[in-house]
Formats: sequence, C-alpha cells, structure tokens
Amino acid sequence: KSLTIGLIPADGIGREVIPAAKQAILALGSDLPKTEFVELLAGFEYFKRTGSALPEETVEILKYDCDCALFGAVSSPSKKVVGYSSPIVALRKELDLYANIRPVISVAPTSDEKPSVDLVVVRENTECLYIKQEELTVGPNGKEARATRLITERASRRIGQIAFEIASKRPRKHLTVIHKSNVLSVTDGLFRETVRAVPLLPEVNGRYNDVTVMEQLVDSAVYRLFREPQIFDVMVAPNLYGDIISDAAAALVGSLGLVPSINAGDDFVMGEPVHGSAPDIAGQSIANPLASIRSAALMLRHLGYNKGADRLDVAVDQVIREGQVLTPDLGGRSKTEEVVEAVLKKI
Ligand code: NAI
Ligand code: MG
Repeated sequence: KSLTIGLIPADGIGREVIPAAKQAILALGSDLPKTEFVELLAGFEYFKRTGSALPEETVEILKYDCDCALFGAVSSPSKKVVGYSSPIVALRKELDLYANIRPVISVAPTSDEKPSVDLVVVRENTECLYIKQEELTVGPNGKEARATRLITERASRRIGQIAFEIASKRPRKHLTVIHKSNVLSVTDGLFRETVRAVPLLPEVNGRYNDVTVMEQLVDSAVYRLFREPQIFDVMVAPNLYGDIISDAAAALVGSLGLVPSINAGDDFVMGEPVHGSAPDIAGQSIANPLASIRSAALMLRHLGYNKGADRLDVAVDQVIREGQVLTPDLGGRSKTEEVVEAVLKKI
C-alpha cells in the first residue's frame, strides 16, 4: 500500500507553509506507508501567468492519482477580475468536500491543565453565498447589486450529520447550531430545522440522544465566543458564518497561524490551514507553519493514520508549550524554517 499526497501551495505564505507540512510528514517515516508527493498548480499568481486559476490537470490528478491533498492559500483579489474565480472554492465544489472541519484549541501551559478554548467549527462548505451568483443592474437608486444565497436540505442535513457525529465522540457531547433565523427565517430557518432534525433520522437510531443541542444567533455567538469560549464544544454553521466564526476563534488561541482545517467529503480529504495568503508577511520567512503541520495531522487522522497524526500534534504542542522557538505572530523571533526544525526534532 502507498499514499499519494497532492500539494497545492498556491500563493503567498502558502508556498512557505506547505513545504513545512511536507517535511513534517516525511519525518514520520515508517508510521506511514510509502508516501509520494505530487506538486500541483493553482492560484492567483498562476492565473496571472496563464489565464486560469485552477488547471484541469490539477483537478484530474487530485481525483484520479491522489489519496488526499494539502492546500496552502490563494490571494483572491477584492475587485472583480474577469475570468478569475477562487480555486479553493472551486476545488471544494469539484471534489464535493462538503464539510470544513476546524478544531480550535488553546495549548495549556501544562498537559493536565484544561485548555480554555477547545472547540470545533463545522462549516458547510458548498453553498450559502459561496455559490457566487451575483448580479449588478441599474435601477432608480443607481447600481443595484444582488447575491443569491442557497441553503438546501441535503447540504444542511449532511453537515448536520457530520457535526452530530463529531459531537457524539467528544467528552462534552455538546452542539451549538449557529444561524440568523430571526432575520433570515427562510434560508437560515431551513438550515436550523434540518440540522436540529438529524437526531430523529431513522438511520441515526438514537445514536445522538446524549448530544445536547443549543442554538445561538451568529452575532451573539461571536460575542459569547469572546466572553465565555468554554461554553462551546462543536459549532455547526452555514458557509459564511462558519468562515467568520473560525477566524474569530483563532484570535482567542493566539494566531490564525495555529488553526488547521480539513475539507472533507465522502471520498476525499484536503488539509488546509484556516489562514489566507497573508500578503503582509509573505516572502519574509516568518509565516507560522504550525497551522499547516496541524492540517497535515488532521488529514492523516481522517485517513486513519492516527499514530502519525498524534506524533505531529504532540510535536507541535511541545514546541508551543516550550515557547522558545516561535514566529512573530506568537510573540517570538524565529523564522519559519527554525520552527519547522524544532518540530522535526520533536517528531
Ligand atoms: P490572512 O489570513 O491571509 O491574514 C490575516 C492576518 O493574519 C494577517 O495579518 C497575516 O499576516 C496573519 N497571518 C495569517 N496566517 C499567518 C501565519 N501562518 N503566520 C503568521 N501570521 C499569519 O487574511 P487576509 O489578509 O484577509 O487575506 C489575504 C489574502 O488571502 C486575500 O487575498 C484572501 O482572499 C486570501 N484568503 C485565502 C484563503 C484560502 O486560500 N483559503 C482564506 C482566507 C483568505
Ligand atoms: Mg476564512
């Protein structure tokens, strides 16, 4: 048996942190089957060179040759660029990676002290406003811009199933449904009702009876996240809210450079740090590689390589706890490569 991992560094610090994850995986040696890496192209830089942000070849190789993949980050412009469309949004769709799973954990100073933040954001990954159906017309009030927000029963149910499954396996077994049904009673109303009905599905067979369910409007959820993060265990949200909540949660644990994710579907998984391409620090070799290494760990665990995943997580936790070799986002003075070396030593 062998393991083929697609690597899509894409833009900015993606090119600095994905090689770090590759080195960490290689250090696992015989804890993994024979591992091969395939470097794949995508991103805004690639678009500027070729007119395409996601070559067909990248998608084909991922689909037919790879067991899993790691994605860095893409520098999507804030203005409309004709012909450009975000490759990560496209990949999530193409590969039907419908669940974006983002654990956010603060590392306590000692192993027996309880972390104050220990939650998982489960973000729906295929619809909501990210279907990108926008139109611009001109009316009596000047330009009028509209966006369509799609929430389906199917997508809400399958993300709900993932969220309940994750919650049922955690010690606290607690799920918070995030929505804004007080205003968007049709779209968010459907999401809320569908997720809440998951435990009643016949195939669930009572498995989630011990999961407690709470719900929270998205705005007050962010408020409570900052005031009493310990009340949250698993948070399930439509695409846009999940995006925002996970960056907010990242602030609570010290840096976006620590928070990993996987994009998971029924037959493929892609690890991806939650952060973007960070143009403000790109090219300076000071990007924090830990989110990327933790994303590799999540990806490996999803595939059942628990031992390798544990070794990566333990190594990252040790480096953070010791606090000697950290990048500037965590108050340190070390370079990306020095942090990678520290992690490799622990592995
Ligand atoms: P960002 O996540 O790139 O950066 C936000 C802030 O966090 C910056 O100050 C950055 O320096 C810092 N930061 C992020 N990751 C870090 C790391 N590993 N180590 C140290 N500091 C880190 O978000 P921003 O600036 O809003 O977006 C920049 C670009 O990234 C945009 O073009 C955006 O479209 C893209 N983006 C791409 C994503 C993806 O590919 N999945 C996700 C989010 C943004
Ligand atoms: Mg984001």
